[in-house]
Amino acid sequence: MATVYDTHAHLDDKQLYPDIEQILQHAKEAGVTRINTIGCDWKSSLMSVRIAEKYPQQVWAAVGVHPHETERMAADCVERLFELAKAEKVVAWGEIGLDYYRDHSPRDVQQRRLREQIAAAKEAGLPIIIHDRDAHADIVNILKEEHGGVNGGVFHCFSGSWEMAKQCMNMGFRISFAGPLTYKNARIPVEVAGQVPLDYLLVETDCPYLTPEPYRGKLNEPARVVYTLSRLAEIRRMDYDLLALQTTENACQLFGCK
Ligand code: NI
Repeated sequence: MATVYDTHAHLDDKQLYPDIEQILQHAKEAGVTRINTIGCDWKSSLMSVRIAEKYPQQVWAAVGVHPHETERMAADCVERLFELAKAEKVVAWGEIGLDYYRDHSPRDVQQRRLREQIAAAKEAGLPIIIHDRDAHADIVNILKEEHGGVNGGVFHCFSGSWEMAKQCMNMGFRISFAGPLTYKNARIPVEVAGQVPLDYLLVETDCPYLTPEPYRGKLNEPARVVYTLSRLAEIRRMDYDLLALQTTENACQLFGCK
């Protein structure tokens, strides 16, 4: 069976964590042998590292503060995350970025905390995981100014245009697709997914959110990344197993599979 890497999950989420052993089993049965669980604030970052340590064969961790949570961050949060990031199971810093769709934190605070976390990730030698919602121009500018792509990184659940994808890839970022690629109205993501060079593509669930078709509306979990991957294979007119192999290889290059 093809080996699939779900590069973005939130296994600490209260809808998933109580059933984590079952969820990891489902993943294994679907060929999803590697999962990154992603931090959104201090607590979930800590929990992500603990989960990765508890299931070392199948789960790796990222630590970071999501743009929504930046207003509530403790003053020393980035320093503490920097220490946490030294744990062996940490493979990336994230998710970090800008969210102008919900604006849960003021935009200037989001931007300041993004810059701080890019600097910390660079010092830690880690790739970064970018969350960008309705903030395309600002995020590209900040990543350029801060040289955010020096250790590589990924735009998770990419929602930009092909023009933007090219800019991101030029800065060293890979492009990751999630469940929305399978939705009927996904015109632009489908267009982009058909054009991104093969070695820049990643897949993810962002579970418990963004459940792909045909399960849209139900709870998402890593096993369901296979539906996004099959849609991607269909868009690119490629064999599923070959695409699984290539996207896993891409993820391994970025996150350093051990
Ligand atoms: Ni996420």
